[in-house]
Formats: sequence, structure tokens, C-alpha cells
Amino acid sequence: MKKFLAVMMFALMIMTQARAAEFEMVEYSAQVKLQWLAAAGIPEAQKFLKLIDRPVFFNADNLQDFERLELTNSLYQELNMQAAMEFVRENNYKNVMDLACSLSPRAMILGDEGRKVAVGELQTVCLIGDWCLEEFGSKKAIKNVWYDAYWLQDRAGMMASADSLKGEVCIIEQGVMIYLADDVRAQMYENLRDVLKKHGGCLITSDFTQKKYFTDTAAALFGEQNAPTLYNETKAMYEKVFGDKIADDLQDEQEALEFLKTHGLTARKVPLFSKPPTLHISSKLTPAQLQAVNELTRKDYLWVITAL
Ligand SMILES: C[S@@+](CC[C@H](N)C(=O)[O-])C[C@H]1O[C@@H](n2cnc3c(N)ncnc32)[C@H](O)[C@@H]1O
Repeated sequence: MKKFLAVMMFALMIMTQARAAEFEMVEYSAQVKLQWLAAAGIPEAQKFLKLIDRPVFFNADNLQDFERLELTNSLYQELNMQAAMEFVRENNYKNVMDLACSLSPRAMILGDEGRKVAVGELQTVCLIGDWCLEEFGSKKAIKNVWYDAYWLQDRAGMMASADSLKGEVCIIEQGVMIYLADDVRAQMYENLRDVLKKHGGCLITSDFTQKKYFTDTAAALFGEQNAPTLYNETKAMYEKVFGDKIADDLQDEQEALEFLKTHGLTARKVPLFSKPPTLHISSKLTPAQLQAVNELTRKDYLWVITAL
């Protein structure tokens, strides 16, 4: 706890006024994400949550419909985390940039497999992420993973981070676009195109299908009829954390492809998993839910984006 307070004091000291204001929302969205990963039963996430020693954000006392929201969000976050890791493994990427990875143990797990992972996050999330890595990472993970603090719209910052990796990169970007204003999103994709042109490789994301993907995830658990409500309730939950509107536009495939083209990028869609995954959350699901989730894992929610 002492170490945590020291880290937080240090973070606050080095941040400018503007960064500190932004930090409020980002730190909380990172913490909520960790809450869902821990609730999915991912042991590393549970350790991270215990280490940071703060009460979880949402619970049955402060959120109506908490149980259904928790199960849906935990499943969605575990699917995202495992699908990205499987893609990296199947395509044998040795270099990964995990953008706005939040407080997810994904980088640590990939680093433990001998891959170099440069996480791009905001200053305070980097400090907490580093601390979690030091506490729970293997020697290999500690050697292979590092946190680089930069804004996604910061061209030089993102390129410097990419340049610390040698060879083709797999860039993972999940669950971030909803927080970005149009100009920031456009600049981020300009930066990503530059990195892909220089280094080769690809970017994977489900952000252009997140609305349908999340709604289908909710439907797999609680039926088609309840799914739109669960999407709207989740959106409202994140708007509360963020303190602003969530940007869930650019969900039309043609419009998204046009957007990418204007930034010198193209995309192909691939299934989340090429074979049924083993999920930690499975033990919490009924046989009917498990079957529906297995079907979901075969759907093309992942976009593989490359430079034109
Ligand atoms: C909910 S988390 C992202 C989830 C995660 N990437 C995933 O795989 O689901 C949102 C994260 O985006 C980061 N973030 C938001 N805006 C950012 C920006 N402009 N530049 C860098 N990071 C940003 C926050 O620090 C936060 O950790």
C-alpha cells in the first residue's frame, strides 16, 4: 500500500494540470476493465486487482442489473483478451504493441512467452501497470515487457515506442475508440499507418464492430430480447466512469472501410478464434450459454488492418 501511495504521489507530481484532469477518466476505465477480467476468473487479473487494493467500481448495491452486466462484460473482456493473444500466437508475432492496454495482464502473459511487448498507455496507468508486472511477472516477462507513456494521438511518442521493437509488429487496439474525439481518432490512425508502413505487420481491433459484437455477446448469455438493454446499460455505465458521452459511431462496415482508406489503411475480417477457446469464465455458464458462446467465438468480429 505504501508503495502504491508513493507511485501515485510521483504520478501526480509529474503530471501537468491538463493531464491530471484527463487521468481521472482513464484511470477509472482501466480499473473497471480490470474488475471485469478478475470477475471472469483470470488469475493474473485477480492478483492485479488485489495488489492495487481499491474497492471495485460497480457492485450490486450501486448498479441495477449488476449480475447480468457483470457476466456480460466479463465474458466480453475475456473474449477480447484471449482472442488478441491467440492471434499473436497463431501468427507467431515476436513483437507486440499493446495500445491503451489498461491494467490487463495480457502484456505480461505474452512477455512470458518470450515476445517483446511495448505497452502504450497514459503515465499513471503505466506506473501502476509496471508495478503489477514487477510484483507478479516472471523474470522473462519483466525483461520483455515495458510501458511507454504517450497519448495515442502523439505521433512521435507512438513511433518512438514502435522503434524500440525490431521487426514486424502486431498492434493490439481494443476498447479505446469509444473514448476518442473524432480528431484524436483520425490522428491515431494516421500514426498507426506510419508505424505499419515503417515496421510492417498489422493492427488488430474489434472496435469497428464493438456494438454488434457486444450485443451478440449479451444475446448469447441472456437472449436476443435482453441484449440491446444490456448494451445500453453498459454504455451508460462507461459514460458515468468517463464523465462524457461514449463515441459508438463508425459501426457501419462500409463507412469504417472508407474511414480507414482515407488514412491509408485497409482491413479484412477474421473470426475471433480459429478453434474453440478455453475460457476461464466457462465455469460460470450454463450448458446452453456455453454452446451459444462457442458459436460466437467463430464470428468475424476481429479486423486485421494493414497499410495500403
Ligand atoms: C477501457 S480501457 C481500454 C481497454 C483495453 N485496451 C482492452 O483491450 O479492452 C481504456 C484505456 O484507454 C486509455 N486511453 C484513453 N484515451 C487515451 C489516449 N488518448 N491515449 C492513450 N491512452 C488512452 C486509458 O488510459 C485506459 O486505460
